Amino acid sequence: MEKIDLDFILNGERTTRSGVHANMMLVDFLREELGLTGTKFCCGIAVCRVCTVSVARVPGAHQIAIRACTTPLSDINGKVVTTVEGLDDDGELHSLQQAFLDNFAFQCGYCCPGFLMASYALLDQLKRSPVPRERVDDMVEEAVGQHICRCTGYVRYHRAIRQVILETPGLVT
Ligand code: FES
Ligand code: FES
Repeated sequence: MEKIDLDFILNGERTTRSGVHANMMLVDFLREELGLTGTKFCCGIAVCRVCTVSVARVPGAHQIAIRACTTPLSDINGKVVTTVEGLDDDGELHSLQQAFLDNFAFQCGYCCPGFLMASYALLDQLKRSPVPRERVDDMVEEAVGQHICRCTGYVRYHRAIRQVILETPGLVT
């Protein structure tokens, strides 16, 4: 099995490991090797999106939501990864986290990190390419419409994400 020297940026910190399996999935590396259990695991086959994290090619590049259960370490080598552990700002919740709380968006919370990270990538996309107000619902649906929540919290998640988009300057034309 091919081994690689891993070198990437995780939640703002350079992270290196020598001789890791290139085919190890990112979700396993985060949870088992680094103890970052905020990224959840469920289906393991890229369906439920509970394992979503955000990846940029280089610092400052656009964020893309990816599924860590089917992303091998070889794919993230040299890139910039943000997980739910990297969202707060010195203990201050990210606006998405606060909105999820304010809107009672989740129940058990298992799906929550996936919704957060997909929304995080969406905010970055809108910062670069704002959309008309009437397209916001479609954008939210596009970003998180395929995320599975067994507690059926969809409506409140959508409401919370929409609220953040409308309240953040520069995301809507
Ligand atoms: S664990 Fe379900 S998509 Fe990754
Ligand atoms: S809040 Fe329980 S799975 Fe979504």
